[in-house]
Amino acid sequence: MDTKHYVVDRDKPDSKILSEAAANLRSGKLVAFPTETVYGLGANGFDEQAVKSIYQAKGRPSDNPLILHIAAVHEVEKLTQNISANARALMAAYWPGPLTIILERSKIIPNAVTGGLDTVAIRMPSSIVARELIRLAGIPVAAPSANVSGRPSPTNADDVLVDLSGKIAVVLDAGPCDIGVESTIVDCTTPVPTILRPGGITLEMLVETLGDVEVDPGLVSNNMVARAPGMKYRHYAPIAPMTLVESPYPENQSILLREILQALGDRKKVGAAVSRETAALLPADVQIAVLGSRLNPAEYAGNLYTMLRAFDDTDVETIFAEGISEEGLGLAVMNRLRKASGYRIIKK
Ligand code: TXA
Ligand code: MG
Repeated sequence: MDTKHYVVDRDKPDSKILSEAAANLRSGKLVAFPTETVYGLGANGFDEQAVKSIYQAKGRPSDNPLILHIAAVHEVEKLTQNISANARALMAAYWPGPLTIILERSKIIPNAVTGGLDTVAIRMPSSIVARELIRLAGIPVAAPSANVSGRPSPTNADDVLVDLSGKIAVVLDAGPCDIGVESTIVDCTTPVPTILRPGGITLEMLVETLGDVEVDPGLVSNNMVARAPGMKYRHYAPIAPMTLVESPYPENQSILLREILQALGDRKKVGAAVSRETAALLPADVQIAVLGSRLNPAEYAGNLYTMLRAFDDTDVETIFAEGISEEGLGLAVMNRLRKASGYRIIKK
């Protein structure tokens, strides 16, 4: 299959191009599209076969359910039932935006979308290209991140093409994504809403809106089974093994330096995904990826996946990553770094 690559303006996308992409979706084909978080791999959410072809293109385990993307808040009504007051408060506050809400599913959703669960994940993205595509398609769009399963999510169209060229009909290219990590997932079927995956809508924001929020224990400890089925897989990972160093600053910096010098002493080719502040202290023979200022988690998030993917084009044999504070978007950054490291973590 020849994958069509269409560049579109992120604020005023060409409606002919979007209509063609929407027609592809309606007829059961796969279309990759930008969102404010990461690029998604879309299929018609009402078409069981189309949804199954997502799993095939990504090499994704079929017990890992997909998010249904909608273009207007009212569309949630026919896809779900028993929407709680908390869920409504979240929709009012954060839709459109990087928030996915888990609700009781309605009967019209194919099993392939939910992996057989009686709940469904719904999200209304803020990206204009994404919303316009969904609106023109006139159906909910089932979409995981547009990467081969296990790899870091794509935050630009070139990264989508590296993984999926030849396997999908179209990729819409609106440049790099604003946020760079996937949406926050909140389960609103529990008495107290529960964060299953941290993301662009932070814990602090959710507490402000809801008062009371729980964090899935699976996020805190790697010994617990995470409740978002996808969170149990090693994920977001570069090919070379990565070790995360996550003590408070400044011990963190000295541990990182010590570990890197030791690996260099063992004649290893070393990569480092670190803050700008720490990068300035590293020896010249380290392959350095600057994630951002350690005080700016949004910058870290924005660069994270591109930098992790870039290591795969180098000959590094071992990678060290520098953790940051878990405040705000830092919680999502640290969650992804821990998973990318396969929980190979050094704490003081
Ligand atoms: O930002 C995002 O959310 C991106 C863009 C494309 O919207 N999408 C994304 O999809 O990250 P994906 O498939 O890579 O991650 C979806 C996560 C998985 O961990 C999955 O297990 C979880 O959502 N999930 C889906 N349905 C669920 C459900 N009913 N209950 C619990 N977790 C669910
Ligand atoms: Mg994913």
